[in-house]
Amino acid sequence: MNTNLSSFLFSIAVLLGLLGVCHGGMLRKNFYEDSCPLAEDTVKEIIWKRVACNSTLPAKFLRMHFHDCFVRGCDASVLLDSTANNKAEKEAVPNLSLAGFDVLEEVKTQLEKTCPGVVSCADILALAARDSVSYQFQRPLWEVLTGRRDGTISRMSEALANIPSPFFNFTTLKQSFANKSLSTHDLVVLSGGHTIGVGHCQFFSNRLYNFTGKNDADPSLNSTYAAFLKTQCKSLTDNVTTVAMDPGSPLSFDNNYYKNLKLNQGLFQSDAALLTSKEATNTVDELLDSDDFFREFGQSMKRMGAIDVLSGSSGEIRKKCNVVNS
Ligand code: HEM
Ligand SMILES: *[C@@H]1O[C@H](CO)[C@@H](O)[C@H](O)[C@H]1NC(C)=O
Ligand SMILES: *[C@@H]1O[C@H](CO)[C@@H](O)[C@H](O)[C@H]1NC(C)=O
Ligand SMILES: *[C@@H]1O[C@H](CO)[C@@H](O)[C@H](O)[C@H]1NC(C)=O
Ligand SMILES: *[C@@H]1O[C@H](CO)[C@@H](O)[C@H](O)[C@H]1NC(C)=O
Ligand SMILES: *[C@@H]1O[C@H](CO)[C@@H](O)[C@H](O)[C@H]1NC(C)=O
Ligand SMILES: *[C@@H]1O[C@H](CO)[C@@H](O)[C@H](O)[C@H]1NC(C)=O
Ligand SMILES: *[C@@H]1O[C@H](CO)[C@@H](O)[C@H](O)[C@H]1NC(C)=O
Repeated sequence: MNTNLSSFLFSIAVLLGLLGVCHGGMLRKNFYEDSCPLAEDTVKEIIWKRVACNSTLPAKFLRMHFHDCFVRGCDASVLLDSTANNKAEKEAVPNLSLAGFDVLEEVKTQLEKTCPGVVSCADILALAARDSVSYQFQRPLWEVLTGRRDGTISRMSEALANIPSPFFNFTTLKQSFANKSLSTHDLVVLSGGHTIGVGHCQFFSNRLYNFTGKNDADPSLNSTYAAFLKTQCKSLTDNVTTVAMDPGSPLSFDNNYYKNLKLNQGLFQSDAALLTSKEATNTVDELLDSDDFFREFGQSMKRMGAIDVLSGSSGEIRKKCNVVNS
């Protein structure tokens, strides 16, 4: 490449870096190495302590990180509270079971004591998702790059527009992920997050009771499994009951999600949709291999964790995760 062109490209890169508009490229390994050397250990310590007493937390943080990244990028906008004139992301219908905010605030409070104004809530959430899921293995399951900054805007309407619905088909799921520069491969791999946690009846009871409006069931749902689900969700309108998404091992992070899928036991239409595309089904088949799943999940999480991150001087480092700095 000629020198003028490369120095021109270099200037552009520097400029973009200063403006903080790079997409994930600004994240790096151990960003807080000098500014707050114990940051990552502090997150892990508190998260492991809490997960040891409450095994539902890994699912909460994994999902919360996903919701954060899909709305305005991974900028902790999901953690902001509503204000008098703004309904925050938390208010959106898909929020329903978001939880664990208090634990993140505990981490933040501790880090503000040791390194005031240094560690972003967005990084705390990305690390909490990794560390909570990893507790079961007592070692980090994937690498989390750091250096995200916190956003100052959180809107319910944007959560509704950007978080995929459990009623989506393959085409709309694919669009939703492509909108975030994620591939069909990432879609199939990250859906494996449904190997832990629970879902409310209202997100799949149509598949049991009224799939096409004729009081019928979804023919793509395993009828044995559907019969079981009906014993849990007793009516179409039950919006209180939850069921495990991976009934065999709901607390264990593993690749059983794909084994269930192959038995037509994906809980949501969006899960079952992964069997309606040749390309996606090929990936499902690959992920039946446990080593492949863990490797691919880590790589896709890294891509998800880099969506539209704020860096440089954009955004801020919040003092409290639920409110913007005054
Ligand atoms: C592909 C599109 C996706 C759709 C349509 C979807 C939809 C849903 C829905 C409807 C629930 C149940 C919420 C409730 O009833 O409280 C749920 C739970 C969950 N999702 Fe997803 N999700 C998707 C992708 C992801 C991704 C990418 C991850 C993370 C990598 C993820 C992780 C989780 C977890 C861990 C739970 C359980 C939460 C808990 O136990 O409280 N999901 N998802
Ligand atoms: C989720 O949204 C509902 C309804 O808008 C709201 O009442 C609830 O407080 C929200 N949940 C959280 C955790 O903010
Ligand atoms: C575990 O954490 C979840 C989510 O924050 C919470 O709803 C639940 O009450 C906690 N359970 C216990 C036993 O503390
Ligand atoms: C998927 O859903 C969209 C939006 O509801 C719809 O327009 C489209 O026809 C559906 N695609 C298939 C293949 O069912
Ligand atoms: C794509 O993202 C834009 C804004 O980020 C949003 O308004 C739109 O609804 C999204 N489309 C899909 C299919 O998720
Ligand atoms: C099933 O769906 C149809 C069409 O949407 C609706 O008219 C009917 O009331 C529903 N049945 C029940 C039990 O809600
Ligand atoms: C659940 O359904 C009941 C009865 O239809 C309704 O009053 C209530 O607001 C619903 N709750 C949620 C969280 O949607
Ligand atoms: C339905 O699930 C049962 C296990 O509960 C399994 O033996 C059967 O093969 C599944 N059927 C289909 C069509 O996948």
